[in-house]
Amino acid sequence: MQLDLEGNAALVIASSSGLGKASAASLAKAGVDVIVNGRDEGRLENAVEELRETAEGQVIGCVGDMTNPDDITRLVETTVDEFGRLDHLVTSAGGPTRYTFTETQDDDWYYAYDMLVMSVVRAVRESIPHLREVGGTITNITSMVTKEASGANVLSSSVRMCVQGLAKVLSDELAPEIRVNTILPGLYYTPRRHDAGEAGVDLSDVPLDRMGEARELGDVVAFLCSGYSSYLTGAAIPIDGGALQSTL
Ligand SMILES: NC(=O)c1ccc[n+]([C@@H]2O[C@H](COP(=O)([O-])OP(=O)(O)OC[C@H]3O[C@@H](n4cnc5c(N)ncnc54)[C@H](OP(=O)(O)O)[C@@H]3O)[C@@H](O)[C@H]2O)c1
Repeated sequence: MQLDLEGNAALVIASSSGLGKASAASLAKAGVDVIVNGRDEGRLENAVEELRETAEGQVIGCVGDMTNPDDITRLVETTVDEFGRLDHLVTSAGGPTRYTFTETQDDDWYYAYDMLVMSVVRAVRESIPHLREVGGTITNITSMVTKEASGANVLSSSVRMCVQGLAKVLSDELAPEIRVNTILPGLYYTPRRHDAGEAGVDLSDVPLDRMGEARELGDVVAFLCSGYSSYLTGAAIPIDGGALQSTL
């Protein structure tokens, strides 16, 4: 499908790996100029090199920590300086450590809040003037645990609810110029899962009987940025192979 996104510019936060990188890849393939971000310079350089192989738009790396407000400001400024515009803000994250409630300390909660919520708050705040100018989009990657809590991952299940609420509020407050949607990933075999030793996860609750490929999520991000989703805002969309059993 031709997405008609050529010449647009996107900032994809936390995108040197996994789902963020796949989102950057789908956008770049569609002709979007993309800023790719992560903390580790070497990892970021590798990602940029890889993305450039299939990109139709420009791909530029920008090192930064999404928990640092100055870095967020710099990421948005770099996007506008490099490309002259910002059409699409995509927020992903590193993901908090998997803990049960009794394993957590106060600091774990504050860090998860800073990384998952305040990074989105700050990125959106900085991006709004630029997105308004062009009629842009905001797409947040959260998790299916916002619809079906996981006791093994209390931080993600609890703190990410703020992003869901924020996205819903923003979809009204920023309309009609800016559309805001959220993607809820199910199970994807990304480096994060590999590092956590989660290769052999239980797929018995996944009707499609497999993990997702990051590209399958990235393509939905590109669709949400495109005019083909022009009547879609305020939605929380699971991309989970059917894993969520709730009707709503
Ligand atoms: N994979 C799944 O099955 C799944 C399912 C549900 C939800 N999710 C969520 O989706 C998000 C992405 O997951 P993933 O599997 O794609 O993870 P991943 O492969 O580990 O990628 C995480 C990316 O975020 C960057 N990052 C981490 N902390 C950062 C920070 N403070 N500032 C800037 N960049 C940062 C990492 O680069 P650096 O480390 O170099 O900074 C990396 O590029 C996570 O929030 C995860 O919880 C994933």
